[in-house]
Amino acid sequence: ARVLVLHGPNLNMLGEREPAVYGVDTLQSINERLHAHADDASCSIACFQSNAEVELIEAVHTARGEGTEFIIINPAAFTHTSIALRDALAATRLPFVEVHLSNVHAREPFRHNSYFSDLAKGVICGLGALGYDAALQFALQHLSTTPP
Ligand code: DQA
Repeated sequence: ARVLVLHGPNLNMLGEREPAVYGVDTLQSINERLHAHADDASCSIACFQSNAEVELIEAVHTARGEGTEFIIINPAAFTHTSIALRDALAATRLPFVEVHLSNVHAREPFRHNSYFSDLAKGVICGLGALGYDAALQFALQHLSTTPP
C-alpha cells in the first residue's frame, strides 16, 4: 500500500480504553474511515496494529519494499520509550506523520517527550480520531505534489 498506518500498543483497546482520554471510536471504525477516504482518492492504504515493538519495527523495515511511500504512525507508549522504532523510521527515510489522540502535552510529564517528533513531517495531537483523518489528508496531498 502507498500509505501505511501503524498503531502502537493498547490501541486495539480503543473504544473501551479510557474513553474520556482517547474517545469512543474503536480502532476498527478509525481504520474503516481511513480506508474509505483513501479509496475516494484512489490511494491504497494498509493499517496495522501491534502491541509488540519488534512487529512495528519489522513493519517499518518491510514498508518501502512493499511500495509504501508515506507512514502515519501513532507509536502510543513507544512514543516515549522506543529509540529502536525511531531508528527504524530514520533508516527507511520514508516521510511520516506522528498522531496522538490525546493532547500529550496536557498530560503527565513523561508523555511530553517524543522520540519521533523531530523526524516527523508533522505531529498531530489532541484532535482525537480526527487526527488520523487530517494526517491522511496531508499524506494524500504530499503524495500528489512530491515526485516519486
Ligand atoms: C497516545 C498517547 C501516549 O502517551 C499513550 O501511551 C498512548 C496513546 C495517544 O494517542 O494519545 O497509548 O499515543
